[in-house]
Order: sequence, then C-alpha cells, then structure tokens
Amino acid sequence: MPEQTTQDLLASNGNRRILITSALPYANGPIHIGHMLEYVQTDIWSRFQKLVGNECYYVCADDTHGTPIMLSAQKQNITSEELIAKSHIDHQKDFGAFGIAFDNFHSTHSEENKFYTETIYNRLLENGHIARRTINQLFDPEKQMFLPDRFVKGECPKCGSADQYGDNCDVCSATYSPVELKNPKSAVSGATPVLKDSEHFFVKLQDFEAMLKQWLKTGVSQQMANKLNEWLDVGLQEWDISRDAPYFGYQIPNEPNKFFYVWLDAPIGYMASFKNLCDKTAGLEFDDFWNKDSKAELYHFIGKDIINFHCLFWPACLTAANYRTPSKVFAHGFLTVNGTKMSKSKGTFIKAATYLEYLNPEYLRYYFAAKLSSKIDDFDLNLEDFVQRVNSDLVNKYVNIASRCAKLVQKSGGVMHAEIDHPSLLKEFQNEAKQVETHYENRDYGKASKLIMSLADKANTYIDEKAPWKLAKDEATADEALKVCSMGINLFRILSIYLKPVLPSLVTNVENFLNASPLTWSDIQSPLLSHQLNKFIPLMKRVDIKQVEAMVASSVEAAAQISKTTKKNNAEKSTKIESIKPEIQFEDFDKIDLRLAKIISAEHVEGADKLLQLKLDIGEGEKQVFAGIKSAYAPEDLVGKLTVMVANLAPRKMRFGLSEGMVLAAGPGKKDLWLLSPDDGAQPGMRVK
Ligand code: 2FM
Ligand code: ZN
Repeated sequence: MPEQTTQDLLASNGNRRILITSALPYANGPIHIGHMLEYVQTDIWSRFQKLVGNECYYVCADDTHGTPIMLSAQKQNITSEELIAKSHIDHQKDFGAFGIAFDNFHSTHSEENKFYTETIYNRLLENGHIARRTINQLFDPEKQMFLPDRFVKGECPKCGSADQYGDNCDVCSATYSPVELKNPKSAVSGATPVLKDSEHFFVKLQDFEAMLKQWLKTGVSQQMANKLNEWLDVGLQEWDISRDAPYFGYQIPNEPNKFFYVWLDAPIGYMASFKNLCDKTAGLEFDDFWNKDSKAELYHFIGKDIINFHCLFWPACLTAANYRTPSKVFAHGFLTVNGTKMSKSKGTFIKAATYLEYLNPEYLRYYFAAKLSSKIDDFDLNLEDFVQRVNSDLVNKYVNIASRCAKLVQKSGGVMHAEIDHPSLLKEFQNEAKQVETHYENRDYGKASKLIMSLADKANTYIDEKAPWKLAKDEATADEALKVCSMGINLFRILSIYLKPVLPSLVTNVENFLNASPLTWSDIQSPLLSHQLNKFIPLMKRVDIKQVEAMVASSVEAAAQISKTTKKNNAEKSTKIESIKPEIQFEDFDKIDLRLAKIISAEHVEGADKLLQLKLDIGEGEKQVFAGIKSAYAPEDLVGKLTVMVANLAPRKMRFGLSEGMVLAAGPGKKDLWLLSPDDGAQPGMRVK
C-alpha cells in the first residue's frame, strides 16, 4: 500500500473525524506488558492524531462476560459483578500509569452494550441471518453446566499425553474436539463429563461472503488480506453465538436459559463505550460515527490472534445490522521477551504493576515505539537491548541536548537569545515534520524514532562543534554562547514535539521547562526568541540493568508464590493417605544410600509423556535420572534445586537412555507431586540418614 500522509487524508476527507479502539482486555486477569504493546501502539497513534489537530477519540472497555470470569468469581467466593468491578479499577490504574489516554474506558457489562447487542441480534434475526440447530457437547453432571473446551482435560487422542486441554495438545500440537479426548475430566469439578444435546444460535456468515471479499480490499493490509482470503476460499462457517445457562452475560431476548456468547458482545463494546462517551460529551453524536453512511474514520487495533473475529465476523454483523464497517483493522504480532514467549518461571511474564515498581513506563513506551512497524511480525523485548536503547537514545542523545544548553541560558537569567544561530539547521529540523508525520500515520514508529534520533545526533554535533561552554568563559563571546544554547533549546523543542506522542509525561516536564504549554505540531515552525525559560529539572534518569534484573526476579517470585498456593490447595484436596507397607528391619533401610543431589540440568525427553531427564550432582560426580515428574514441574523450575536421590539403585536401561537412580517425591502423581528438598545450608553429596 502506498504511504499516506496526513495531508493526503485531509485532502480526501476534509476535516478528519477519527474513532480508534484497542482490543478489550478480559476482566479476569491483570494487564501485563504483552497487552501494553497494543495499548502503547494505539495510544501513540491517538496522541499523534490529536497533536496534528484531528478530531480523534480513543475508546476501550473491559471484556467482562463468559464462563472463565464466572468460574473465577465463584472460586474467589465473590459475584461476577464484584470481580469485574475490581478488575476495572486495577486496569484503569495500570493504563493511567502507562499514559494510555483513553477518552473513555467502559465495560461490556453496561446498559449501552446490552442495548447494542440486542439491537444487532434482532436485526440479524429479522434479516434471516440467524440459524438454530442442536449440537452435542460435553456437560459436567456435577456442576450442571456445559464445558468450554478449555475446561475439559484428558489424554491427547493423538499422542496419549496426559493432562491436555480439550482443544489442543501442548505436547504434540494436535488440534481436536473435546469429545475426542481419552478419559476426559471436567476441570471445574473433576467429574467425568457426559455428552448432552443443546440448541445453539448461529450467525450465517456465508450470507456475507461477497460483502467481506469487497471489504477486505480496503479494510486490511495485504499481509492480512492474504490470510483472510485463504479462509474465505475454504468457505465460511456458521458462527455460534449462544451459550447455555449458567453463563455470565446477556440473556438472548425471548430465549430463557440461552445467553449471548462473549465474543458477540465484546466488539459491540466498542460501540457501547463510544455511546457512553457521547452521552457525556456535548455535541458528540453516536450516529455521525456509526451510521452506514458515516464519513468518520473507524480504526481497530488488535493482536494477530483475533483477526478473524474482527475482519470476518464483526464487519458482517455491522453490515447486517445496517451500521458502517471499520475503515481499517490494524493487527500487530505477539510480544516475546529475550526471544521467547513470556514465561512465568523465567520471570518474563511481567505484569504492568510489577514493571511500574521498578521502571519508568516511558522507557517501555519508547522501546516499543523504537521497534514497532505496521507489520504483524512478533515484537521482541530484549532486556539488554532495552537498557542500551533507552540510555543511548533518550538519555545520551535527546535529553542530553537540553541538559547541555539549559545551564548556560539559565546563567543569563533564563532568557533565550533574540536570534537564530544556525537558520539552515533549524530549517532542516522543521522540514522533517512531513516525514515524521507520514511515519506516525503509517504506524511506522520505528522509522519515526530513527529519523528523530538522527536529528538528535545532528543537534549534539552542532553543540560539540560550537563548544558553548568555552565561548561562555570569555566576556567577548558570552553572547555567542547564549545564541548557540538557545539554538540547541529550539532544536530540542522540535524533537520534543516529534516525541510527544511517545513520551507524554516527559514532554509535559519539557513544556514546563520551556514555559510553553502545550506544545503543538504547528509550533515546529515558530522558534522561541527572547523567551523566558523556567528552571531546568533533570528530565530522565539512566536505566540500570539492576532495576531490570530486580523486576525479573520479582516476577519469578510472584509466579512461584502462585504455583506454591495452587500446589498447596491441590495437596489439601488429595487427602487420600496410602496405607503403611509391612515392617522392615534397620538393616533393610540401611542398604538404601540416600544422597542430597543438586539438579544441574533438566530437559524434556522427546517421545516421553511423563519423564524429565535430570543431571544430578551428588558430590562425587554426576548421575543421570529419568524422573516421572513432567506433569508437576517445568524443567526450568528445577535447575539449581537440591533434592534427595537413591544413589545406589541399580541402573535401569530405558528407551531414552540409562537411568542411574531415583529422585524422591511425595504425592499421588501427575500434577500433585512434590519433590523432597532439604533446608538451607545442606550440600550436594550429603548422606540422608
Ligand atoms: O482476546 C481478548 O483478549 C479479547 N478480550 C479481545 C476482545 S476485543 C473486542 F472484540 F472486544
Ligand atoms: Zn498430543
């Protein structure tokens, strides 16, 4: 797609009116840095649109319905309403701290959402797009509820691995239907589910094939259209929009015990949040943005995992209900940390609140911006690169310009020089405004950051060459020193305007220092002359890798705490005590050489469902043991741990290699298994007697 500049869009649309959304976060979990990638991406775009003078609204809401939320509330002995109210407060706190400036943050559990969900459903029904048919599903006879795929566990039908979810196998990646699982169990009650019939309601998505083909030509990037067209070519399926009671959501009108599936009312939450904003804002009309013939622009920012919902189901529902379709849906990739999926045991599953205890949110906003593009590739947060990039770009390049120049201007009473020292350099900075705009408009924030930092380099080179600190020493050149530093501050001011969508909080402090608030895009063209500055206060501290390490350590600890509590709860559940074996003599026991062993490495064993391959240090050399503890421990949680092993057990030849002993664990098995470990101070090799 050719690059579009703001000017192109202005030319084609007149005054731009823009409505932007981010995907709605589920109300049953905390916001983490993976979520933040999307909110920061959207927030930068929204701030940019406002900065260049467009009328723009950024709305979002909590996604509050569904079985997981209902069950999670039951577990905590609270109502679903109480659970979502608590999340709403926590989410808003995290978003606020990260500078995510929603114009409205609402909830799908709201009057507006109920109204639009029923309206859209009724219009789908009236227009003949709803089908009803009976389907057969797993039902928990104890809990008296149908089980979503994720709430059934059993053995994988393909590879036989134990403890797999009802939709796909973690071990062999097979996908299947929950009825195919062997020995299925309800994850809610532990009961064996039974098959039961139930009538469901479906949106006949096939009715919208031609409309969707047309919409895809303009609504998504080429990269996304290719994927979506593959789905269209295979043929669109009817889309299940109902769930049976008990369910936390909205009842389907005139259909007792039937509820709208959360994925119907979730995107409608965009409309509901905007309607709620309209009701609070004089002159803002819902219909201007959502009517079929609306000239306003509507953009959804989402992750790549929910493209089909937003690019097939959602435009179809809107069309059927006589609303406008999105102007574009923008998808981004997943966040990885240090090259791999965020991991609780590695401490890289970092909650927003944990991040905030250790680091300035604008470091992360900048790092995201510095590497984001409009593509849907995954985004890697490399923690060392993060420290290096923030320190080198923000502290050493950008903020440094102000720190170097402010002192000397302050010496002259804080009043800037009346003339520009280097007009062509100033012009060069001003002339890049169009290019920076284009990069922001196209969500190529990485390109924008690169360009802005190359300008920061030029400003620093200019200051180095002029060396105003030398000029200031001599009375005869003191005026020139002021002129150079004032020029430096004018260049810094332009860079601050360019960076304002990314670093809103820092730039607020810049505005205070410049005594020029708020900075707008049009200010780029008018430098400050003979202008009184305020006192300069350091704008940003360097990041220390130690802060990052402490954040990771704290995330590991929080995850370990959760897993400890879960294990404790499970232990309390498994109260069945095995009977004691027949008596033995001391000599029998003494034959067993029990040693403390340090786990040096732990790895998965290819083709083995239950085993982990452990390398153990027992003081005098290393032993290899294949231990059946895979369902209870992740390998990375074991390395470095001390445990107890039977060191003189005759080696056993297994399919995977030689097992030279046994590690000791208690519990009935599977997940309910606890390795023995000594108190602090014990050393590998010590005999257990
Ligand atoms: O995937 C998710 O996290 C969903 N809560 C996103 C919903 S986006 C929209 F459709 F509401
Ligand atoms: Zn499998």
